[in-house]
Amino acid sequence: MLVSLLAYAQQQKASRRELMTSPGRQIFASNCAACHGLDGTGNQRAPNIVGNPQIQKLSPQELLKIVSQGVPGTGMPAFASMGRTAVREVTAYLRLLQGQSLSAALPGDPQRGEAIFFGKGACSNCHMAEGKGGFLASDLTTYGQSHTAETIKGAITSAAVRNSNPGMVTAITTRGQRYEGIVRNEDNFSLQLQSADGAFYFLSKADLKTLERAPESIMPADYGSRLSEVELNDLVNYLVSLGKRLPAIARGERND
Ligand code: HEC
Ligand code: HEC
Repeated sequence: MLVSLLAYAQQQKASRRELMTSPGRQIFASNCAACHGLDGTGNQRAPNIVGNPQIQKLSPQELLKIVSQGVPGTGMPAFASMGRTAVREVTAYLRLLQGQSLSAALPGDPQRGEAIFFGKGACSNCHMAEGKGGFLASDLTTYGQSHTAETIKGAITSAAVRNSNPGMVTAITTRGQRYEGIVRNEDNFSLQLQSADGAFYFLSKADLKTLERAPESIMPADYGSRLSEVELNDLVNYLVSLGKRLPAIARGERND
């Protein structure tokens, strides 16, 4: 598990180094960047050619053909005049850029990940994703935007990687009513609990007979063994894809 995370991190670092030293880098900067942007993510003039799965899926031959012959009838010019070596180098560089765009580099399948999130993993009992799911833990819709794949995977399998959070609290009032939930707010005199169904309870500490705090996070600790490596990759890929759908739409990226 840890070994594969390390391997992944090393692979990311290696591909970044490869990107910096690739002979196609300069060719891309002077021939493609004006339209597609320095990182290939596109602008008003030309589409994103690194994050678009359709373009990621093109075979090497198809990609070479597009770059050397252009796309007739569109703003995409032919670059055959650069010579075959330069065309090959610039498409190799484009592949590296695509590899940097996380979903291409990540192993795993976001659709299967979604099924695990709402099914086998039962993540949705506690977490929301795009408006569906539970209330006890954070909404993970944008989590993948601000965290690397390693961190996401680590957070799923190890409490040490997550922001430490107190566990479930059980409060029993002097009248014998029992409340269970996560502490949302607390001061010397009162306690605000949110239960698994999302309801809030404001409790006065003076009315409580007992207040028990579970020392451990409510997030199950055994995902590292309960889910296979493949399933974990699927989940990570799903969470990353969630984060990416929003800006992709905001950028007006084509989905056709
Ligand atoms: C003058 C602007 C311009 C320049 C320069 C340019 N492109 Fe494009 N490129 C476009 C446009 C516009 C499209 C969208 C074509 C379409 O509508 O299918 C495109 C599309 C593409 C596609 C996707 C084709 C497809 O089938 O969807 C690839 C790959 C591509 N460009 C690579 C490159 C590379 C590599 C370079 C530099 C060697 C480059 N482009 C330079 C404007 C440009
Ligand atoms: C029983 C409730 C519960 C379930 C089920 C659960 N989590 Fe969590 N999760 C939490 C809580 C609470 C935290 C906050 C940190 C902590 O308590 O360890 C958390 C934290 C996280 C974090 C770090 C972000 C943060 O808010 O700190 C990620 C990522 C995450 N969970 C993913 C998942 C995934 C993926 C699954 C399913 C495989 C899952 N969780 C299942 C309760 C849960």
